[in-house]
Amino acid sequence: MELNVAAAMIADRQGAVLCVRRGARGFASTAGKWEFPGGKIEPGETPAQAAVREVREELGLDIEPLAEIPPVRHVYPEFAITLHGVLCAPCSEGAPTPTLREHTAFDWCPPDALWRHDFAAADTPLLTALRTRFFGTHLRTRVFGRDARFLETCDSTNTALLRAAEGGAPEGALVVAERQTAGRGRLGRVWDALPGQCLAFSLLARPKAPPEIAATLPLVAGVAVARALRARGFEAGLKWPNDVLIDDRKVCGILCEAQTSSRGIEGIVVGIGVNTGTVPEALAHRAVGLGGVDRLRLLAELCASFEACHERWAHGGLPALRADLDTLDCKRGRPIAVRPAEGTIAGVSRGIRDDGALLLERDGQIEPILCGEIAQWD
Ligand code: BTN
Repeated sequence: MELNVAAAMIADRQGAVLCVRRGARGFASTAGKWEFPGGKIEPGETPAQAAVREVREELGLDIEPLAEIPPVRHVYPEFAITLHGVLCAPCSEGAPTPTLREHTAFDWCPPDALWRHDFAAADTPLLTALRTRFFGTHLRTRVFGRDARFLETCDSTNTALLRAAEGGAPEGALVVAERQTAGRGRLGRVWDALPGQCLAFSLLARPKAPPEIAATLPLVAGVAVARALRARGFEAGLKWPNDVLIDDRKVCGILCEAQTSSRGIEGIVVGIGVNTGTVPEALAHRAVGLGGVDRLRLLAELCASFEACHERWAHGGLPALRADLDTLDCKRGRPIAVRPAEGTIAGVSRGIRDDGALLLERDGQIEPILCGEIAQWD
């Protein structure tokens, strides 16, 4: 009889066991058996010993550990896990030496828990495979999000993607990071978020349109985010040029930056930060979070929404998004203060024009504002 048993333990940051993975080739009933959440580590036990004990107790297999595999740690936005592998042998004499089933083999992961493993921090074969499988099922796009990099930390996803764009990254390339050390916002502002409370990512577009059309891409991104959030039941609206608000508070900021060469615009990096969790108390008057959502699923939805809006825009420019611009614009018809390059001008918003300008009514005249922002909180 051939008996090959391997066990691996997944523990979270605090050491609580999330999952015991075990496999016993030759035992059809136990191969691929999963528990999630799994058992617990008894006082004085190593994680690997606990895995072995669980296999013994629950599967009734008489095994002894031969060697522990150096733990592998992966950090995800939702939690950090450490995989402890342990090679085991059957205790009975004469049994063949067992072989360890590669403890990072992704086919050990139960399909319904894939998302937990998927928001990967490092590019290991396991994580790459999981990510591919996850996106294979959740990401409904042809282009945007298909070429994805998940980082635990980076300076700014925009910077990372601009670098990749210089190196020839394709349209649709995605960079996601759990933590940005130098996240930036529009007009030189800092974008800071508590760990785990934000979905920060950047997508690369390579528009073929002339610069004046390409310059309207931030509005496309705003529409895409607002639509995706509305599809989830949030009352999201667009504040020109590209903030997304819920209940008049900011839930998402967008920063588009161009990759240029002597030929002109080669690409546009669309950086999006969504407050997915909660926002610090001190910012609660101006910012709002989604209250905790599955960020990977939301990311897939945002990519799909962006792709749909981008496609319409690529063929018909902003006029192709007219109905959305009018419906989602949460300042249209309301008194606003606008900050163009200098000063502040008060008036009534008359919506967003086909070239992306904000239309501001003052003293019965409608004036297009081409750059700046609607002042709200400062
Ligand atoms: C703003 O509100 O001024 C825009 C904020 C944009 C933040 C996002 S987070 C992902 C991407 N990386 C960055 O450094 N900034 C954008």
